[in-house]
Amino acid sequence: MQLQVNGKTRQVQREDELLLWVLRDELGLTGTHYGCGIGICGSCTVLVDGQVTRSCLTPVASVAGKAVTTLEGLARTGRDGAVTLHPVQQAFVENPLQCGWCLPGHVMSAVALLNANPAPTPEQIDDSAGINLCRCGGYNNVRKAVARAAELKRGGL
Ligand code: FES
Ligand code: FES
Repeated sequence: MQLQVNGKTRQVQREDELLLWVLRDELGLTGTHYGCGIGICGSCTVLVDGQVTRSCLTPVASVAGKAVTTLEGLARTGRDGAVTLHPVQQAFVENPLQCGWCLPGHVMSAVALLNANPAPTPEQIDDSAGINLCRCGGYNNVRKAVARAAELKRGGL
């Protein structure tokens, strides 16, 4: 079957597999992390047609024909090879987390939040961040990063 991943058409063999394992094992997109495997931690979060999706619970066949975006699909590479980080990535560089296991979930959730709401309130940022567990307790920096990303996006980065 074919998948649309990060703007490219990819051929995949394991049609009965969960999206997480196709992304990681078949397509080599290991930016999507495995944590709990039961839809709770959020480290496996990707966007499917722009919606926050737990890839550990999502049969790959169910996303055929939909646009899947992973962490690897956010940065842009110019003709000169220079990489420009997505504003959310840049904001997390400025406000780093500890071990980073939860990071893909926080980044992808923030991307979806800011696409829907370019100027979220602190409460809306907390609601969005709270769906992803951080065992290192990095929520203060998550809050700062999402607020900074909103600022960077408004500035046109
Ligand atoms: S690995 Fe998917 S929610 Fe935890
Ligand atoms: S930084 Fe370690 S789990 Fe969040």
